[in-house]
Amino acid sequence: MKRLAPSPQGAFLTGHLHRLRRDVLGLMIDGARQCGDVVRFRVGPMVMHLVNHPDHVAHVLIRHRANYDKASRSSSALSLICGESLLTANGASWQRRRKLIQPMFHRTVVAGFIDTIADCTAIMLTDWQRKAQARQPVEAASEMMQLTFRIVGRCLFGADLEQEARAVEEAMHVLVTHTYGRWRSIVNAPPGWPTPANRRFAKALAEVDAIVARLIARQRANPPAQPNLLSMLMASQDAESGFTLSDAEVRNEAIAFLLAGHETTANALAWSLHLLDRHPQWADAIRSEFQQVCGDRLPAMADLAQLPQTLHVFEETLRLYPPIWAMERHVIADDEIGGFFIPRGSGLIISPYTLHRHPAFWDRPEDFLPERFERRDHPAYYPFGAGPRYCIGSEFALAEARVILPMILRHFEIEALPGHPIEPEPAITLRMKHGLPLKLRK
Ligand code: HEM
Repeated sequence: MKRLAPSPQGAFLTGHLHRLRRDVLGLMIDGARQCGDVVRFRVGPMVMHLVNHPDHVAHVLIRHRANYDKASRSSSALSLICGESLLTANGASWQRRRKLIQPMFHRTVVAGFIDTIADCTAIMLTDWQRKAQARQPVEAASEMMQLTFRIVGRCLFGADLEQEARAVEEAMHVLVTHTYGRWRSIVNAPPGWPTPANRRFAKALAEVDAIVARLIARQRANPPAQPNLLSMLMASQDAESGFTLSDAEVRNEAIAFLLAGHETTANALAWSLHLLDRHPQWADAIRSEFQQVCGDRLPAMADLAQLPQTLHVFEETLRLYPPIWAMERHVIADDEIGGFFIPRGSGLIISPYTLHRHPAFWDRPEDFLPERFERRDHPAYYPFGAGPRYCIGSEFALAEARVILPMILRHFEIEALPGHPIEPEPAITLRMKHGLPLKLRK
């Protein structure tokens, strides 16, 4: 007899659809609290399980990963933006891409990005100085999006995307909101139908496509002296398999990296600034640590290991507000997890947001306590995923945080606007629903 996992109370026809659309984070937290480490949700005719225990995560992402692929609803929605790419591919197609791209994210390559990260941050801070003098607040969530976009542009594509930063931020917002909207609806109009939402999506995608096409054309005309992700993708050939990427495939990877490489880090930085505003003693700790290590100079790769307090603040931010708040897999064949039946064809969710608040693994889970990361073993911590599909850009993101946060705090004291609401908005990444306007003091 197949044992079904427990399920929170839902509506007869639509199941948990209503709450999923209104408050998916609350639905998952309450589901885990009421039902335990395997929770069954029904969204209309679809069944989805949330697994909320490190053993179950290892089952899905490591031990039995061949049974859990990315032919999931979220991946197919994402494919509308970046087609088949490292983010969305499966099996041999994914493996070939990962093998090709992995060396471009080696620590030694990331070390070469530090100067660029610091330069881009310094340019942003010059603008912030002007705003501070004029007593104008900065919209920090949006500033972080534009900053990480420029960094990705220069580090991965060898291009100065200053002019495009604002337009891409808006276009990406449309793309991500549309994609997430499709994920949480039972019925969607086919992508080709000219509904207003599909038309907005197509227009935003055309803008991003045009920018990427320009980047590819520019590199083809003038191959850069210093290779970058894009030029390496264009020139790459796997020696063993002879696998190369067509132009369309290079475009898919480029868009996937634009998306994965800036939204995630930008949200994490914005959440860090929010938490640092609430916990100014940690802002002081970051300042004095940076002063001791770097003094007045810009940071270098070798310095980053000397900034543990900054790292712990960022790690704790990723615990409380993991940018990838849910990872979805499609179940290929019937399975059993924690004694419960997991049917083939259903969806499976691992939620870092929920796991990072699991009371069995975290003491005072709702509190901001960066010092907990002085200990390095945290079995229920998955901000970057696990197993072979572990985030390829994790070193890059951790380097960005340790350069950007101290550079901001060295120049300014930050203060939130009184009464401004702070609320997470789960789209593909965990955004700030109402942004983060900050007052700056020198
Ligand atoms: C704080 C920042 C970041 C977080 C929290 C984050 C989180 C994640 C997570 C959880 C996954 C695994 C998803 C899954 O298994 O379904 C992932 C995969 C990925 N990330 Fe990141 N990421 C961050 C930054 C970056 C950056 C900076 C880049 C690129 C420059 C990047 C590129 C990717 C790519 C391409 C994948 C897919 C890897 C694969 O499937 O082989 N990420 N990321």
